[in-house]
Amino acid sequence: MKNFKQINEDISFDDWDEIDNPGPVQTEFQKITEKALTRRNFLKSSAAFSAAAFLFGTTTLTPTDAKASSIMFDPVAANTFDDITLPKGFSSQVVVSWGDPMWTKGKDFDHSTRGTAASQELAYGDNNDGMSLFTKNGKHVLAVNNEYTNRGIIYGARDSKLPENEDDVNKGKAAHGVSIIEISENNGQWRIIKDSYYNRRITADTEMEITGPARGHDLLKTKADPTGTKSLGTWNNCGNGRTPWGTYLACEENFNGYFSSSNKDFKRTSNMKRYGIKNKDWGYAWASVDERFDISKHQNEPNRSGYIVEIDPFNPNSTPKKRTALGRFKHENAEVTISKTGHIVVYLGDDERGEFLYRFVSKNKYDPIRDNSNLLEDGSLYVAKFNDDGSGQWLELNPTTTGISSQAEVCVNTRVGASTVGATTMDRPEWVASNPTKVEVYCALTNNKNRGKKSNAGGDNTPVNGPNPRQGNKFGQIVRWIPDNEDHTAKTFKWDLYVVAGNPDVHTGLDAGSSNIKSDNMFNSPDGIAFDKAGNFWIQTDGNYSNKKDFYGMGNNQMLLGDTRSGEIKRFLVGPNECEVTGITWSDDGKTMFVGIQHPGEKGNSHWPAGGKSVPRSSIVAIKRNDGNKIGENIYS
Ligand code: FEO
Ligand code: CA
Ligand code: CA
Repeated sequence: MKNFKQINEDISFDDWDEIDNPGPVQTEFQKITEKALTRRNFLKSSAAFSAAAFLFGTTTLTPTDAKASSIMFDPVAANTFDDITLPKGFSSQVVVSWGDPMWTKGKDFDHSTRGTAASQELAYGDNNDGMSLFTKNGKHVLAVNNEYTNRGIIYGARDSKLPENEDDVNKGKAAHGVSIIEISENNGQWRIIKDSYYNRRITADTEMEITGPARGHDLLKTKADPTGTKSLGTWNNCGNGRTPWGTYLACEENFNGYFSSSNKDFKRTSNMKRYGIKNKDWGYAWASVDERFDISKHQNEPNRSGYIVEIDPFNPNSTPKKRTALGRFKHENAEVTISKTGHIVVYLGDDERGEFLYRFVSKNKYDPIRDNSNLLEDGSLYVAKFNDDGSGQWLELNPTTTGISSQAEVCVNTRVGASTVGATTMDRPEWVASNPTKVEVYCALTNNKNRGKKSNAGGDNTPVNGPNPRQGNKFGQIVRWIPDNEDHTAKTFKWDLYVVAGNPDVHTGLDAGSSNIKSDNMFNSPDGIAFDKAGNFWIQTDGNYSNKKDFYGMGNNQMLLGDTRSGEIKRFLVGPNECEVTGITWSDDGKTMFVGIQHPGEKGNSHWPAGGKSVPRSSIVAIKRNDGNKIGENIYS
């Protein structure tokens, strides 16, 4: 079947996007260069990257060797072991792996065939990413995103390493979405409870309800759904969120890579171009078995993905809700906070080079004794503008500010609206994390090889700027901001950079990183970030693991702990070969930390977790302290 074997290069997700979605060629080059130089002088004249830190009156980026460490464990050395490495005094176990059956009628994962569509429909999905553990009435229910699949792994039993028939494609569709599993702890080991009432697979075919301003708009209507209110499935869910009312948020990221056109001459709309939807998909071949993924036949189908999806983890019969009020873009996670005014504020990143950082503010207020289940249906959407003097503004996106004819269309063409109002282009906003002990928010800006070189897909120039201080940014940084008046709904904020990643062993200057980066804690491409209840700041990486050249000495992808007061960062975990460390949640008692290991062996060089000649499988591990104490307790001196 020819069209199942479209593309055979083993290239990363990121590279796909670059091939699919190259921005327009450089424009106004002179202007970009001039601005970059001005910014460099600005940075030089301030203390490292902490210009705005003066405004905060903090000593954030004080060199960490100037004083004793505040973090109690001994750091893990960078390494390239095909295993999980933790500090002395901590241990881990695998809880669940791709393909594990969730019901007794399912079959154990078959390493020789790597499963079928039928076995996958009854099994935990692939490439776990964001997750949350919900505990109620003694039941522990874990909701986990299954972001995507690696063809070389899921179809590794095929000679072509590609989907070769309809069942293969359907297996791929079933491996996407969200897995909801009940887990329990016995003798210190966490396991899935097979056949639990709560166990549920949400896949690319599960019915969803479209809510909010875009519900029922013409742009969302299709032949199968002329009302524009019901769509099928969710896929490429990256980071996640959880609400104070106990629901799970799955965040649709690179939804574009699943669409293709049977008519190679099909002329894409400007919206399709802005979102990277092309006549060729990224090799998943979904349109070959499910016509709605053929954009020449169903032009509105892509408008029904790219949203935040709200799911009730305790009701397996509930219909997931697509929340269009939170905008349509390549969502990373959804960090939910309650402002001091009582409004729900959700921070949202759009992970693409030169795209933006957003905020949603609910129209209605949270009330713990009332039904809050529709707070994400109605509210205001904003995009961030960062000024080089350490100040910033949230710019509202509505028909008046954007010139777009309705709020429904603002919610579908959100990127276009953000470009119109002059938001700050960012170095791929990944996860956002809000400090539970302080009104303060962080965002991982993972890297951006186009910074200062190429505009984004909307034609916005991407000159070097305050929070994105390096041209062709290879290593990434974490920006943080404090809302004015300690109010998450305030329209203004102050920002600084918590860390600028780099390699001080290889580089001097900007690429050596900020002063809290040393030989023993260097990393690249921060991605997952989250605070535990005690205010410990955890950083996960999805970066270059070659351990060569610019990245020499960094080893495999890793997880670090940050002290947000002193700026100190220590390496806590190193993952197995060719993995990304992503996804984090805690047991209610704080004694177990669950961490996701995604795509070990994505280039064919891992047998984690089972070892020997086994198939590498994305898995969740449970990490505990050997002394039985809470993970984050007394972790600082
Ligand atoms: Fe799925 Fe932006 O990482
Ligand atoms: Ca990510
Ligand atoms: Ca990433």
